[in-house]
Amino acid sequence: MKTNVAILISGTGTNMVELIKGMKEDHPGKPCVVVSSNPEAAGITKAANLDIKTYIVNKNNFGSDKRAFEEKLNEILFRHEAEVICLAGFMHILSDDFVSLWNKNLLNIHPSLLPKFKGLNTHKRAIEAGEKETGCTVHLVTPNLDDGPILGQTRVPILCDDTTETLRKRVLDNEIILYTNVLREFLIERIKMLPLNN
Ligand code: GAR
Repeated sequence: MKTNVAILISGTGTNMVELIKGMKEDHPGKPCVVVSSNPEAAGITKAANLDIKTYIVNKNNFGSDKRAFEEKLNEILFRHEAEVICLAGFMHILSDDFVSLWNKNLLNIHPSLLPKFKGLNTHKRAIEAGEKETGCTVHLVTPNLDDGPILGQTRVPILCDDTTETLRKRVLDNEIILYTNVLREFLIERIKMLPLNN
């Protein structure tokens, strides 16, 4: 029995594409739905081209009403029987209620070696700080931004002639490998923890 995995995006969808492709191989997960918070996200077409049901829940239509935004997300997630959610470039902070609801079944990827460089502009900040390496982290989501138990990390060197863009690309190349592998291991362990009659 495969685990239904929903993916939430806001942008290009590079991680999302690789997660979906990974799940098309021999994998304990099955992509059940992709939801974008951004109607312009390039990832929407990419998901549709991979035959995944896609939805737009435009964050801007909800103003400051985060509860209504998340209720709409949950309505779609439940309708598609999502069991695990992967945030893949989903650029919103989720409420404590949402995080509690999906407790221990909500994963995120962040382009730094957490706990270093939480938040935005990670590559620019890493270069400016004179770091010799950075990387990417997959972690369980908790109510605090880019926090939560770390499930996997990849170290990536920062070269002396790196720009934000060259570094972003090198880290992203590593993100897509890390996220697919971590999701696989996470789902294998998760299935072992489920009650036998589940
Ligand atoms: C990725 O680099 C991801 O790590 C980052 O957004 C990018 C999305 O790219 N996420 C965060 O910064 C979350 N804090 P993609 O849409 O091409 O996968």
